[in-house]
Amino acid sequence: MIKIDLSNVWLDINPMELVKKEAEVFAAHELLAEKKGPGNDFLGWLDLPTFEERDEMRRIRRAAERIRSNSEVFVVVGIGGSYLGPRAAIELVKGQNHNLSKRDPQIFFAGNNLSTRAWSELCEHLEGKDFSINIISKSGTTTEPAIATRALIYMLKRKYGEHAKDRIYVTTDPEKGALRQIATEEGYESFIIPPSVGGRYSVLTAVGLLPMAVAGINPLDVMLGAATAKEALNVRSLENPAWQYAAARNLLYGSNKYIELLCSYEPNFRYFAGWWQQLFGESEGKDGKGIFPATAEFTADLHSLGQMIQQGERNLFETVIRFAPPPSRVMIDPNERNLDGLNYLAGKSLAFVEEKAFLGTLNAHVDGGVPAIILETGDINAQTLGELFYFFELSCGISAYMLGVNPFNQPGVEFYKRNMFQLLGKPGF
Ligand code: PA5
Repeated sequence: MIKIDLSNVWLDINPMELVKKEAEVFAAHELLAEKKGPGNDFLGWLDLPTFEERDEMRRIRRAAERIRSNSEVFVVVGIGGSYLGPRAAIELVKGQNHNLSKRDPQIFFAGNNLSTRAWSELCEHLEGKDFSINIISKSGTTTEPAIATRALIYMLKRKYGEHAKDRIYVTTDPEKGALRQIATEEGYESFIIPPSVGGRYSVLTAVGLLPMAVAGINPLDVMLGAATAKEALNVRSLENPAWQYAAARNLLYGSNKYIELLCSYEPNFRYFAGWWQQLFGESEGKDGKGIFPATAEFTADLHSLGQMIQQGERNLFETVIRFAPPPSRVMIDPNERNLDGLNYLAGKSLAFVEEKAFLGTLNAHVDGGVPAIILETGDINAQTLGELFYFFELSCGISAYMLGVNPFNQPGVEFYKRNMFQLLGKPGF
């Protein structure tokens, strides 16, 4: 289970202040659990993790088997909460290069931008390949996925005629929205985003689980991890790692640390960090408040952001995710000529070097005025993934209530849309 190490924040916050936060964290957790806070119509995610297999999960697994057997490529269409979760899961567990695997269908994401180049590249890639699509949109009306959907359905119909519908999977609201209507009228197999689950809290519904299953990640293991986390995090005291994380980041924010940099030493964590960024950014950033969620991949970004972190404006703290070391070891060999001067590392493993890089960086950043919360977790697998998703969702709900904002709306996102629709001449704008 996830552990939080706060030993690197005490230069900036006092342990007594953390203890004093207990009542505030308790109140925020109770608001969530008793469903009495703002946005309480959107708390369905609290109860998604379960140890039993529900009907929807059985259908997800059956659909995934079908897709895996008849498709070389699976295109997942969606944006924001309907996109980042599945991508985060697939890249973390199957790796950034998952599309090179011969065992699993290739998975591409569409409808998350308006780039003509990205679209043309996808079309070129789909040429001559058997493919299926999963359209994910809670509202069913978001412009970017709607444009990609129209075009992909056209391509499928041209290629497969009346059988195209067997390759179209829809994930949306059970009753409302254009996509629900399309699915019903056209007879596409469809999955549900419960009305009480907002986009960025939806990864443990079919939104995340169907693409994960197609990628070869067992969704039952993901649920097992999430359900285990749900039980473990149901503790009402500062022993609870979600409380420790929420309390520490809240205190750091109060001491002028306005930016949280989520860092990991795993390149495959990049999209998980993107999911986290949306979760916290859209949940907390409102009413003129909020910690700006930023992300970094170490050690690569130590060679780009490292200078800024070490000596720039002292307004940030780090949250560093540490995974248990992988079972396989990679060793550094001795070299007779030692022209690269690396023989001092001969016989050491890559994991050993990584550990020292982590410790050296941590000490440098803390000494330089950047406190760090360390989050330790297990090896990278489906279960750890489920735990992490639930841990961050719960921590985010608690954190936002501590900040005094509604974690479950995103009124600010409408501003760009309104301007865009006016410029596009959409009726009604
Ligand atoms: O968290 C959210 O609610 C948003 O990021 C949405 O997921 C995003 O705007 C996409 O919306 P929809 O799923 O309705 O297409």
